[in-house]
Amino acid sequence: MPKAVRHDSQPGPGNLPRYSVDELKEMAGMEAARRVEPGMRLGLGTGSTVACFLRCLAERIGREELPGVLGVPTSVRTEEQAAELGIPLAPGGEVGRPDLVVDGADEVAPDLGLVKGLGGALLREKVVAQAADRMLVIVDEAKLVRRLGERAPLPVEAVPFGAADQVRWLEDLGARPVLRKDADGRPLLTDNGHVVVDCWFEDGIEDAAGLDRRIAGRAGLVESGLFLGLAGEALVAGGDGVRLLRREASS
Ligand code: A5P
Repeated sequence: MPKAVRHDSQPGPGNLPRYSVDELKEMAGMEAARRVEPGMRLGLGTGSTVACFLRCLAERIGREELPGVLGVPTSVRTEEQAAELGIPLAPGGEVGRPDLVVDGADEVAPDLGLVKGLGGALLREKVVAQAADRMLVIVDEAKLVRRLGERAPLPVEAVPFGAADQVRWLEDLGARPVLRKDADGRPLLTDNGHVVVDCWFEDGIEDAAGLDRRIAGRAGLVESGLFLGLAGEALVAGGDGVRLLRREASS
């Protein structure tokens, strides 16, 4: 059976929780917002950690510390949140070449390979990440794993046509695939009108790059939540504060 994805708190000294997960997300989001510079074109990821980042970013913009910053949202949800907070946004659908994208993740491996997409925004997140000069990931330390797929499922976005066949194909690859449903029990549709298949791997993903290639070569599968070689840095919030991890030059 899959292991739990979320933890409720992080242990402090004597195993007492020192910060709640919400506080850790806030800490990571605040630190990321400190790193934004005036005039940046800024990819805005998706998720609850990014929501903290957006609030902190909006505060800095409100204090007129960041003239000329322009956000590139990775989902309708983020676009709405950013607009409500008064963050200036690039015209709809325009990505350009962001100086930096700040995004959350569901798992972070030692080489900063990621699993993303539990929030269903993986396709636009990857489009923006691949266009950006730099990707900064913001997570709490419960997201750190030794091997991708060991805790979270790998989301795979697929066109609705033939989705049941994709599920069988993913099963033949060794995954336990589950078609994601909405609150009414219907297949959940992404911002792009696609479905998502969450793929659980009993002992994690043995060969993430190989799996990524196989998924990329399969007609009808649009994208996977594997982000390999995209994130250069990660801000990881834990019991001792926020630390910065950097990807090694060779990985
Ligand atoms: C959205 O599709 C995801 O990739 C999120 O970035 C990821 O699920 C992290 O979300 P939280 O910050 O809410 O954990």
